[in-house]
Amino acid sequence: MSLNEIICKYDINQTKYSIKIKEIIKHKFGEKIPKAFVKTYGCQQNVSDSEKYKGMLSQMGFSFTDSQNDADVILFNTCAIRENAENKALGNLGWIKNIKKSKPDLFVIICGCMTEQENILEKIKAVYPFVNLVIGTHSAHKFPEFFYKAYQKIHKKIYISEKADVVPEELPIKRDSKLKAFVSVMYGCDNFCSYCIVPYVRGRERSRKPENIIEEFKCLVNSGYKDITLLGQNVNSYGKGLEEKINFPELLRRIDSIDGDYKIRFMTSHPKDATHELFDVISESRHIAHHIHLPVQCGNDRILKLMNRKYDIKTYLEKINYAKSKIPDLTLTSDIIVGFPGETYEEFKDTLELIKKVKFSSLFTFIYSPRSGTPAAKIPDPTGKPEKTKRILELLKTQEEISKNLCSEMVGKKMRVLAESLEPKGGYIMCRTDGNITVQIPNHKEIIGNFVDVMITDSRNESLIGKLI
Ligand code: SAH
Ligand code: SF4
Ligand code: F3S
Repeated sequence: MSLNEIICKYDINQTKYSIKIKEIIKHKFGEKIPKAFVKTYGCQQNVSDSEKYKGMLSQMGFSFTDSQNDADVILFNTCAIRENAENKALGNLGWIKNIKKSKPDLFVIICGCMTEQENILEKIKAVYPFVNLVIGTHSAHKFPEFFYKAYQKIHKKIYISEKADVVPEELPIKRDSKLKAFVSVMYGCDNFCSYCIVPYVRGRERSRKPENIIEEFKCLVNSGYKDITLLGQNVNSYGKGLEEKINFPELLRRIDSIDGDYKIRFMTSHPKDATHELFDVISESRHIAHHIHLPVQCGNDRILKLMNRKYDIKTYLEKINYAKSKIPDLTLTSDIIVGFPGETYEEFKDTLELIKKVKFSSLFTFIYSPRSGTPAAKIPDPTGKPEKTKRILELLKTQEEISKNLCSEMVGKKMRVLAESLEPKGGYIMCRTDGNITVQIPNHKEIIGNFVDVMITDSRNESLIGKLI
């Protein structure tokens, strides 16, 4: 099947279902507007999907609440990346069971990555039979239809987990912020890192057409959005399978040519596909932030090979050195997995060495979590949890020192930052640098939503203090 065949516009029929649902809830609730509670687990991709679910719920006539006790509809958008992500969602479902006892009409929806696993689907059916609708990551664009079918008759349950790799377009979106936005450029992942569940639950890589991305981006800039993140599990393989020959750096060039006062960010970049061309585009651009999140996962070549990451540390460092030569004020962040099966303490020390060499501004660190069905889950893992915890603490301590030093080197510098929000407790404004570091400045409410110049006056561990110039 060519990609053109699987691109799917938000079907007019879906809007028809939304209208039908609106009529049903008007009949059921009268003048009262029913409320939906949406809880998101996992990565930015899920945050972005939840904004689409909220867009569709809003079209159906629901308003939103932050309290699950207050809700008429509860939607959990789940994540399967590590065991604890799954446990959090299942634990919360246990709570819903109690609410449902006193509120039998409560409509419960489970969607997201967890639901694409057969064993989880079985578990939901067996342990949480009160769930009304389960909808997989591939079927989100048909949400109103399945919602309608399950809602019409509250006791009829629907479990839908299709394997079609679609590229949904024009879904209604209710964005959480008026300043920062996500734009998906591609879905799915073809990399099959040996520890990772994402390719199994999100399907194969498929890219959106550049014209659709650019249209959405222009619309955001015209509506005043200032910080826009392009999303994909591996944005650097953008373009694969499209009729038009286009790669990610070229997409960035086209977006960068849109006039306006805004920043472009993107995540995530797989190091094997991060090319010199990518760093050249960043250094030549008007709008791309001087920050790159480049997950290295670990600092040892044997483990990287077992992880199926397809690069070694020498290549990774060569790319970083090139990037720093082109973009001297570049900030780097990364993801690290500690305790991959069979990782020795000596091999773990290579990760410590690597982070000291690269000097990331911050790290997302995880203890390896076996995912059923992935190749790594079959590798013998003799290292116990206490040793892995010791290693991650050592990693965090080493990183703390690096972040602290990097931040203290910024004191005395002038920076352009985006004033994002008022911190009600501290009474200061939270700003963000181009390199994604937070800066607190004294309260000047009027600057929120704008880029402003600040002088960095002091530093904390991973953040900065400044004042308006
Ligand atoms: N596509 C992105 C990230 C996807 S998931 C990338 O390739 O970088 C985000 C992070 O979760 C990964 O970078 C990895 O560090 C971590 N992760 C993925 N699977 C994991 C597992 N089984 N156990 C622990 N951490 C994991
Ligand atoms: Fe998972 Fe690897 Fe794909 Fe990232 S690139 S989503 S870590 S398989
Ligand atoms: Fe989790 Fe799915 Fe993202 S597994 S990390 S929500 S792609």
